[in-house]
Amino acid sequence: MNPPDPTQMMISNFPRMLGRMTRGAPATPAPVPPELSRVATYSMSAPHVLQRQYALARDVVARSVGGDFVECGVCNGGSAAAIALGFRGAARHIWLYDSFEGLPTPKEVDGLDATSYEGRCVGSEDAVRAALRIANVAAEDCTIRKGWFQQTFQRPLPDAVAFLHVDADWYESVMLTLMTFYDRVSEGGVILLDDFGHWEGCREAFYDFAANRNIKPLLERFGHSQGFWIKGKPHNRGG
Ligand SMILES: C[S@@+](CC[C@H](N)C(=O)[O-])C[C@H]1O[C@@H](n2cnc3c(N)ncnc32)[C@H](O)[C@@H]1O
Repeated sequence: MNPPDPTQMMISNFPRMLGRMTRGAPATPAPVPPELSRVATYSMSAPHVLQRQYALARDVVARSVGGDFVECGVCNGGSAAAIALGFRGAARHIWLYDSFEGLPTPKEVDGLDATSYEGRCVGSEDAVRAALRIANVAAEDCTIRKGWFQQTFQRPLPDAVAFLHVDADWYESVMLTLMTFYDRVSEGGVILLDDFGHWEGCREAFYDFAANRNIKPLLERFGHSQGFWIKGKPHNRGG
């Protein structure tokens, strides 16, 4: 048998190669609404991060994933408003959880640097409401649960979640959020970890949770810190 002709092999493989290249390519970025730069003043996240959060919400709506938007770690409401902008017109309830007393005491797993952040990031409910007004969210479409997650997660929860934004920094807070809401996230819904690359406790919580639940999420990264996955998505081959 003759050895395979490399030129012929390349030609016959070309459609598959092209498929791989284009499927990995980012979709055309959604146009950014002007309100996004206004809500950015209420967030600790950089504008390019808020743009990605907005685009992820638009994607969830475009794919008709059912459920509400939940954010744990709200502070002054900037990221909540950016994601709410993405859900504009989609009639989803918004659930926001924060102590509004700043970050709780970190544990050893959160790293040495974390100790100086206890009590920082104190937001206010008034600021959150102002940010949500920019995104045109009516007061009755949003539930703000003020208090420590350990208590507020005991109150009635949304039945289904399309977008879970976990922006609570420490291992315990991230783990509690995943344990409370993961099963409520719809297939195709987004789970976004804001602190995956920034705080080692968040990263540890993600890996521990995945191991405990025997799941292997296809984690996508953006920015220096953000990691997200789409529940149930096994690969990026498209289709
Ligand atoms: C980095 S800030 C959130 C930033 C916000 N998403 C933004 O756009 O700027 C983290 C927030 O998580 C809250 N937090 C962390 N752990 C918590 C817990 N166990 N219970 C309640 N709030 C918590 C803190 O109060 C703080 O406001």
